Formats: sequence, structure tokens, C-alpha cells
Amino acid sequence: MTRTIKFCVAGFGNVGRRFTELLLEKETELRERFGCEMRLTGLCTRSMGALLNPSGIDMRAALEMKRKLGHFDPNSPDFRRCDTAEMIERADAELFIELSTLSIEDGEPAASYIRKALRRGMDVITANKGPEAWHFKELEALAEENGRRFLYETVVMDGTPIFNLVRETLRGNRILGVRGILNGTTNFILGELERGESFESAVKEAQRIQIAEANPSMDIDGWDGAAKICALANILMNAETNPKKVSVESISGLRAPDIEWARQQGGRIKYICRAERGGEGGELRLSVKPEFIPFDDPLCGVNGTSAALTLYTDLAGELTITQTNPGILQTAYGIYSDLLTLTASGR
Ligand code: HSE
Repeated sequence: MTRTIKFCVAGFGNVGRRFTELLLEKETELRERFGCEMRLTGLCTRSMGALLNPSGIDMRAALEMKRKLGHFDPNSPDFRRCDTAEMIERADAELFIELSTLSIEDGEPAASYIRKALRRGMDVITANKGPEAWHFKELEALAEENGRRFLYETVVMDGTPIFNLVRETLRGNRILGVRGILNGTTNFILGELERGESFESAVKEAQRIQIAEANPSMDIDGWDGAAKICALANILMNAETNPKKVSVESISGLRAPDIEWARQQGGRIKYICRAERGGEGGELRLSVKPEFIPFDDPLCGVNGTSAALTLYTDLAGELTITQTNPGILQTAYGIYSDLLTLTASGR
């Protein structure tokens, strides 16, 4: 028997577009293998307007409007001038997918949208690391209070199963610490410096290939990494921290001689995000810093825009998972995997 999942979405940028395309590509598989049919009932953006129709919005038509016009057509019968809060109230959806633009300063407005959706009895999937970095405990508690799920697989390492791995597969383990290369832009820049490119041209290239944040300082000065390490610590290590508590050092001062020095010492400089506790129950220390990594360390060979994470566990030991040059499909897949987690839990 096929069941219909009514969902609404905040944000329709590259990730929203690719996720919508993925839903259409997987329509038959979703129905035949997972027994569900997705019905989009609301789609709200900051700059393109909103579409609202509890009976269902044509996803192909929404994609076509974005592609052809760059905004939703005001003459479309589903077009509305409403904001995300109003859409959540009026979309008659059971699932809210939050893909709005990140505010690293406070995790808003994403966190407020998520609160609203959970209070209205909706499950929530987000691609936004801000809410987990700033408000994870509160949002998780709110989800539980309302008997709903709050899922976020794609926020760190785009679609690589980090949170699923710990939740579903590493059962019984405690995560004692994590460290990783979690920002593709800075890993790419370090590689370019090794190839003899200047810092400035490496940043420009990172912008050209669209991996850098709109403001590349968010990458270079460590704020993207700080948000990711806080999300990891809050979710996996039972922490209640936020990006202001991370000791952050920019890579902007690094130049060719630093790279050469590392090579002579038998390693490379990598931009490492860390969360560790000083002993049993000790204080949580969080950092995002350029570190010397020896050639035989699993993080040393992580090149280009790739990412990697080492988990230190009490029972399974030390595990490192690598993702090679992720693209937008992997980010969209992370959201899709959360959707399948929901359907598997009987939603
Ligand atoms: N600017 C980020 C990065 C995008 O370079 O990793 C993905 O979070």
C-alpha cells in the first residue's frame, strides 16, 4: 500500500533544486520499494516568492519556473506572498524540510522555523548546520516532546553517513572525541598552495568552482568549521556548546614557506576541526586550526575538496571515514537518506 507524505520546504537554492530533482528521479523507486509518494504542499523562498497548495504543487513546474524565470510566476495558481512561518501554518504538511540560508552567528532563522514545525507536530529534516551548532539539545528535546523526528544527516560531510553510522551501526559505543577535515574550501586552498599557487588565486578558484561560502571568510577564518565541529560535539558527544566557544585560527596567514616546512618535517598542513574531552568527564575542548599532520596519518592524503572524519570510540576504536570531492548530489542525498530514515521508522 502506498502512503502519501505531505511535505513543505523552506529554501529553493541549489540544494533545494537538486533534492527536488532527486525526488522526481526516484519517484518510482520511492513508490515501489519504500511504499511512499511525496506530495509537496508548500515551497517558500526569500527572493523567489512562495508556492502553496495543500492538494499538491507540481514539482516539475516549480523547477521549470526557477530555471526559466529565476523566480516563481505570480500568475501561477499556487503563487502566494507569504513567509516561511505562514507557509508552515498553512501547508497542511507532516514533514518540514529546512534548506534556508545559514546564519552562523546564531543559527536563525532556521532554528525558529524548526521549532514552529515541531510544535505543529511535523517531522523535520534540515541541511542547515546552524540549528545543531547552536540549539541542538533544545530542538532534540522539542522533537521528543512532540513525538517527532529531527534529522540532519547532510549538515556535516554532505550525505556521508556520520550520524546514521553512530546511531544505527556503532550501537553501544561512546564517542570520546572527533577530528576532521570538514571544510572543502580550505582543504582545496591548502592543496593549491602546495602546487605553488598564490593564496589569493586559490581563493578565487574556490569561488569559481562554487565551494566557498558567499563570504569566503566563513571558510578561511574557520567559522564554517566551527559550526560543523559544534554540530558534531552536540550531537555525538552530548555537548551543549556553540561556535563562540571554539578556539579558531584562520588559515589566511599561511604561505608557501609554511607548506615547505611541513613537507621537510614529513607531513602536510591540514585545517583540522577537533572536539575532545580532557579525561573522563573532563572539559570539552574545541578547535579549528591549521595543524601539522604526518604523512602516515589517514587525514594526510585527503586532497582537493574532499573531507574526512576520525571518530574515537570506547569500543570500536579509532575509525576514519573519507568522502572524495563531494558535489551537490551528495548534499541532496543526505536529505533523501533522512527521508528514508523517516519512512523506515513507520512515518
Ligand atoms: N563552504 C563549505 C565548504 C561548503 O567549503 O566545505 C559546505 O559546507
